[in-house]
Parts: sequence; C-alpha cells; structure tokens
Amino acid sequence: MTTVSVRVPAKLNLQLAVGPPRADGYHDLVTVFHAVSLFDQVTVEPAGRDGVTVTGEGADRVPADQDNLALRAITALRAALPDRETGAVHVTIAKRIPVAAGLAGGSADAAAALVACDELWAAGLTQQQLSGIGATVGSDVAFALLGGTAVGRGRGEQLTPALAPATQYHWVLAFADGQLSTPAVYAALDRLRESRSAEVRAAAEPDLDAALMSALRSGDAGRVGQRLSNDLQPAAVSLFPALRKTLTAGLELGALGALVAGSGPTCVFLAANAERALELAVSLSGAGVCRSVARVSGPVPGAAVVS
Ligand code: C5P
Repeated sequence: MTTVSVRVPAKLNLQLAVGPPRADGYHDLVTVFHAVSLFDQVTVEPAGRDGVTVTGEGADRVPADQDNLALRAITALRAALPDRETGAVHVTIAKRIPVAAGLAGGSADAAAALVACDELWAAGLTQQQLSGIGATVGSDVAFALLGGTAVGRGRGEQLTPALAPATQYHWVLAFADGQLSTPAVYAALDRLRESRSAEVRAAAEPDLDAALMSALRSGDAGRVGQRLSNDLQPAAVSLFPALRKTLTAGLELGALGALVAGSGPTCVFLAANAERALELAVSLSGAGVCRSVARVSGPVPGAAVVS
C-alpha cells in the first residue's frame, strides 16, 4: 500500500470540569468527550523527506513545518518503532474542522497521522499503544483515536468509554469570527478563580456530573441539554464577549442546551432532532451572531482508515 487516508472527527465536551493548575502547567480534568460528524482527512504517502500540505478550512493558520501536530505525532511514532523500516512521508491534511476553535482539530490530525502511518508501516500497534504515543503530542489525541462518547480524566488522555444507548444527538455548531488560544483560556480561568474566595476555589476540584451520565444513559436529548457544562466557558466569554450573544440567541431560538466548545470560541447547541437542528442552523445564521454554522451528529467513531 503506498497511500493511506484516515478520516478523523472533531470532539465536543459535554462536560468539562477543570481542576486547579498542576505543577507541570496542565490542569486535571473530568470531561465527557463526544465525537461528532465533522471530519478532517489525513493522507500519508512515502516521500523523499517528511513534509506536510494543508488544504481547506483555516489551512493558512496550520503550521506546515515540524511544529505541525501530525508531523510531531509521526516523529513520536517512529521513535517508538526503532526496529521497523519507517521511511519519510508526505502528509496531506484536508481540513474541515476549524483551527483553534475548541474542537481539537490539531489533536484530530495527530491521531489520524498515527493511524495512517501505523497502517503504512504495517506496525500493528494497538489503539492503547497509539494513545500512549499520541498523549505526548496533545491532550485530546487519545480521544480522537477512540471516538464515541467517553469520560476523560488526567489531562483528558485517560479514557473510559461511556455506556450509553445508540442515541444519535443532533448538534448545531456556530463558528466564531476569530480564534482563542487554549493556554490563554486556561490562564484566564485561573485568574478568574484567583479573584474569588478560598471557599469557592476549594470547590473547583473536578467531579463527573452523575446527572449528565444518567441523561446520556436515558438517551433523552432534553435531559442531556440541561446538563451541558463547561468550566472554561466564563473564561472564554471573558476573552471573547460576543459569545454571550451567540449562546443567548441559540437558546432563544429553541436549542435544548448551549455551551462553548472546549476552550472556544465555537458555540454548540443541542437540537431535539435533525429537523429542529436544520431550523436552528438556518435561524442562527440569519441572526448574524456567528461566522457560519454547521449541523453535525454524534457520537461517531474515532480515527479510521478510509477504504
Ligand atoms: O495538550 P495540549 O497541547 O492540547 O494543551 C494545550 C494547552 O492547553 C496546554 O499547554 C495547557 O496550557 C492547556 N491545558 C491544560 N490542561 C489540560 C489540557 C490543556 O492546562 N488538561
């Protein structure tokens, strides 16, 4: 096989509970990841030297050198395969997941590159082995490999698949006219918490929302919508105040729930069904509160080779 293509989904966090900063600068999380049908496609082929070409949504903002997360993942995979012939590769990333939007597009591309090179080099690593390598590149890489709906702990790389019925949820994503830096949003959250009383700060220890998990087990979108939560949301809104208007508009237009995606600035709305999602998407784009909208559904599987 000389070319391998892998499709990889964006992620949402249905809950994102953030603990205090750790000594290594990261934050312990308890999060409920959910993979949705907005995909990047990553293709690898043997080449004279490693390189990357990025096309599509926001391509000019993705590094095309060794800082590229897909290339970094490939370098890490090579280091884990010292006895195997792992020649240079050219990576082509067709982006549909917006860049720096809170949807883990960079981690998704890294995950896809791992799956693609594992296949190209016939390395036969398990998903767990690829996750271990991926976690050194980005906190969300392990989930992009797994997909579905899963509880994440630690930096988000320790995953447990959520047991839930095969309900498909219908989401509307409102893409913002701008970006947010993930480290900047975490730092803003730390500052917001610093300014509060010690009592409130002590309560910031992250904990899984049992009511959300129960709602997911019931498959009732209305209940799930009421339990969406994101500790990073106040920080994202403080850095990008226009998001407040977008969130309010979606709720007024009938969304079952609304929240900022990860570190933002994408806003996420849950709809009762596909028809409602279409109505909501049309109304939101007409309301002029975002750059563009997309309808997606989830859960979907993680990174997989396209046959
Ligand atoms: O792991 P990743 O490179 O995706 O993380 C980007 C940044 O987000 C980190 O450098 C850190 O500032 C912040 N982060 C964090 N705690 C996490 C995940 C990310 O503070 N659990």
